[in-house]
Amino acid sequence: MLVQQLLPADLFRNQTVFVTGGGSGINLGVAKNFAALGAHVAICGRTQEKLDAAAVELRAIGAAPGAKVCAVAADVRDAAALDAAFARSQDELGPMNVLVSGAAGNFLAPAEKLSSNGFKTVIDIDLIGSFNASRGAFAQLQQTRGCLIYISAGMAYMPHAFQAHVGAAKAGIDMLMKNLAIEWGRYGVRANSIVPGPIEGTEGLKRLANPTVKDSLVQAVPLRRMGTVDDIGQTAVFLASPLASYITGCVVVCDGGQNLVGSALFNRGAEQMLHAAGAA
Ligand code: HXC
Ligand code: NAP
Repeated sequence: MLVQQLLPADLFRNQTVFVTGGGSGINLGVAKNFAALGAHVAICGRTQEKLDAAAVELRAIGAAPGAKVCAVAADVRDAAALDAAFARSQDELGPMNVLVSGAAGNFLAPAEKLSSNGFKTVIDIDLIGSFNASRGAFAQLQQTRGCLIYISAGMAYMPHAFQAHVGAAKAGIDMLMKNLAIEWGRYGVRANSIVPGPIEGTEGLKRLANPTVKDSLVQAVPLRRMGTVDDIGQTAVFLASPLASYITGCVVVCDGGQNLVGSALFNRGAEQMLHAAGAA
């Protein structure tokens, strides 16, 4: 991992990073980057077996002597379960310095066929889940003068077809982030969002782009490659580090310039995928 070559291996030693949805994909990549710099890491998700497997990977990285990992099942829609997970993390790892809110759900759906509950489900996981996590983490973050990092998406500001639910949820997350940056700045707590571009090998990309779309995307992205989970992990490390101590309320786009060329490729590809699945 690049962070281990460029940054002091004890940068986050004795600090605790809690990642919601940290059992897989981008969020696990973020957790790994912090673990590589000595942090204690806690992850939550709905599936204990998935978290246990991720915890094995995180422990194997364990850069600092005594660095610990806590893997606890909790659905971010259940504020009480999340509070219990935060309490356990505090008991085992000490007070939280960084909350990464990354738990999310997504599927392609034409708006006219999306049920109210389908729309609500994504709002509940992404937006309400981010609020539950932020509020639940506040006392610990106030104590440590820590920071919040939200994993947003390009749909927050660049409309994607068949993603009305996700666009609304992620736009809400970015505004939640800005509100909390204002409200909690007086406690020394910072809040920022990361907008990942298309990230190779992830569930999210698999759900939105078939191999043909991915090939076209690579040609269209100004940097001519997909992102990696480490690209996002490194951005999170920067935002949590002392290098970013005067940065709050920002949406940091890490997408190889994909937003500059828009969502048209995604839109066409999504239509083909829905058509093939008989859903459009
Ligand atoms: C239409 C759908 C649907 C689909 C579910 N629903 N899938 N509607 N098309 N493909 C509807 C259901 O019919 C139901 O409404 C409601 O949504 C809730 O469905 P459940 O299956 O009960 O929900 P739940 O078990 O809570 O699961 C949540 C989920 C699921 C979001 C639906 O896919 C999930 O668990 N996802 C987590 C993993 C994930 O999505 N990872 C990708 C994140 S990427 P009714 O009316 O029937 O009751 C991301 C952005 C990526 O967020 C950006 C890439 C560039
Ligand atoms: P992923 O591996 O499916 O990550 C989502 C994680 O959230 C999973 O570990 C999932 O675990 C967890 N989760 C889902 N619902 C939950 C709930 N109700 N409570 C707790 N945890 C829950 O997909 P990913 O593609 O890496 O996405 C990670 C983040 O990056 C998301 O916020 C996504 O919106 C964002 N993003 C991804 C891309 C991309 O290219 N992939 C681009 C832009 C933004 P369980 O199912 O076990 O609960």
